[in-house]
Amino acid sequence: MTIPHQHEQSTRHEIAAAPPPRQTRREFAADLVMKLGAMLGIGGLAVRFGSFLIPVVPPLKMVEIPAGKLSAIPKLGATMFNLPGNKRVVVVDTEKGLRGFSPVCTHLGCIVRWHGDKKQFICPCHKGTFDMNGRVVSGPPQRPLDEMKLTVKGGDVLVVVPTREEAT
Ligand code: FES
Repeated sequence: MTIPHQHEQSTRHEIAAAPPPRQTRREFAADLVMKLGAMLGIGGLAVRFGSFLIPVVPPLKMVEIPAGKLSAIPKLGATMFNLPGNKRVVVVDTEKGLRGFSPVCTHLGCIVRWHGDKKQFICPCHKGTFDMNGRVVSGPPQRPLDEMKLTVKGGDVLVVVPTREEAT
């Protein structure tokens, strides 16, 4: 084992005790900008990850869509109207007022037809039959036609549909 000279010992001691080099203002500013950038980047990623986990869903609101003229619906009869988006509504004048139904059969999705002489909807696919209130009369369907809410304004029939579209 060798014993270092006294001169070597004092040099090591001086190096160990030397204060850390001071940052210049420019280095400090650059360091600060880098740290802020990193914090903002991490914050942005956290916000995006949070919105991925908990998506922001626009609130559900009811929108009235014009279907057709009230005068087009015969007394105790039904009329089919086209709606935007390739959809349809059947508006029926029942003993208790107007009712709207989706014409899509609840069995396998064929479009039902109104038979005014029988006051019934009959599905052409498997002869499912519904009364003028959408209730199943006979055939394979297990549930009534889907009802669509209606309003009447100034002689126009409007269908009220829920939507989540953002206001433009
Ligand atoms: S699809 Fe209508 S009865 Fe089958």
